[in-house]
Amino acid sequence: MRHSTRWSDTPVRQGVPLALTHVPSRPESGASAERRHVFAPERFHTDGNVCNVVIPQRDCSGLPCSTIAALVHTQCRIANETAIREAAAIIRRGGLVAFPTETVYGLGANALDPHAVARIYAAKQRALNDPLIVHVADAAQAEALLDRARLSASQWTQAQTLMQRFWPGPLTLVLWRSGVVPPNVSAGLDTLAVRCPSHPVASALIRASGVPIAAPSANRFGHVSPTTAQHVLDDLDGRIDLVLDGGPTAIGVESTVLDLTTDPPRILRPGGLPREQIEQALDKPVASGPAYVGDSEPAASPGLLARHYAPRARLIVCADEVDLLARHAALLQQGKQVAALLLRRHTQAQAVVHPHFVLGETPEEVARSLYAGLRALDAQAVDVILTVRIEGGGLNEAIADRLRRASAHITESAPAAAQ
Ligand code: TXA
Ligand code: MG
Repeated sequence: MRHSTRWSDTPVRQGVPLALTHVPSRPESGASAERRHVFAPERFHTDGNVCNVVIPQRDCSGLPCSTIAALVHTQCRIANETAIREAAAIIRRGGLVAFPTETVYGLGANALDPHAVARIYAAKQRALNDPLIVHVADAAQAEALLDRARLSASQWTQAQTLMQRFWPGPLTLVLWRSGVVPPNVSAGLDTLAVRCPSHPVASALIRASGVPIAAPSANRFGHVSPTTAQHVLDDLDGRIDLVLDGGPTAIGVESTVLDLTTDPPRILRPGGLPREQIEQALDKPVASGPAYVGDSEPAASPGLLARHYAPRARLIVCADEVDLLARHAALLQQGKQVAALLLRRHTQAQAVVHPHFVLGETPEEVARSLYAGLRALDAQAVDVILTVRIEGGGLNEAIADRLRRASAHITESAPAAAQ
């Protein structure tokens, strides 16, 4: 059985008992309910501002939750040379640093230290069966983490072609994991996801740390990814050591995840690098990820859960602006608080629906502001957020995917395409 840990509400202080609640993340029939642990001061120790607690092994499913890290204070620093040097020192001593990439902010730890990796899962309250992406400075550093012997010659040629063409950049490659990478990085899988980010701060941090950096998006599990340092603090303040503030991220949706262990290669998650560019580089079509699965079923890759990247409010994806206006009127009649996430061309809806957030018009603008828009409207404590369906290739594939996962219902009438 899988467990997650809910954090104590009160900050961790030396000499004061620490309370953590263990919650089965996938309750099975007959499984015990939440279990609360109270640790006497002598049962935990602090290391810098990290507090380590060893949970008895019988209470968790394995390595990832055997050490729980609770933190007292999160610093947020402008990502200059000094801050990056200090961030690298934190990574080397097993701490957690959030940093900007060209896609979204990542929550980084030393990928070669299983205890540091375990802290990522704890801080995010991430499901223990959801593998992490390892960030590298270049292709040579990635190669050192992979089991090349398990790849066919043609698969390795494809990997090299894609690395040369698209790295650094928003493409994550799933290949075979070498024994030097701790199993909990990949949630026990034999495979490893590697990515070389192009953001100068990410790249400087990896080089200064001298180790590959495991980093999921720096949000609470299942929540919308962060595209600013403030978004990271909103989700993780008090749980991580440091946030490097490099301003808003340029792309705004996560990297494309491509599985190269299968033939043909398979896109597990559409993202910042459009499918068409990958197909052109490989000179062949690539497959698409497994069908979406419900939250109650086992997932091939849990990031592919049907409901993910979700705001707290209910998101409804409407067929077009007319549909959106009709739903708005109906929901107001039911006494609901309603907001809308709109394109620039939706002028009628902008005049009628308040509050609203205008994402822009081009796919690049929409991708860049999508998560900020969802977070901004969610912060206004509305019941429902209405938006209009987006279809098409290029970046629109990733945008449509995120809207689908964040929404409770999708209407199936005429499509409205963003350019
Ligand atoms: O743009 C990005 O990819 C950002 C930045 C920080 O690099 N990272 C990110 O990480 O989005 P995360 O953990 O939020 O999403 C990683 C996705 C998940 O859907 C996970 O299941 C999948 O990649 N993944 C990671 N390792 C995998 C593996 N070995 N096999 C299959 N899927 C994997
Ligand atoms: Mg994520």
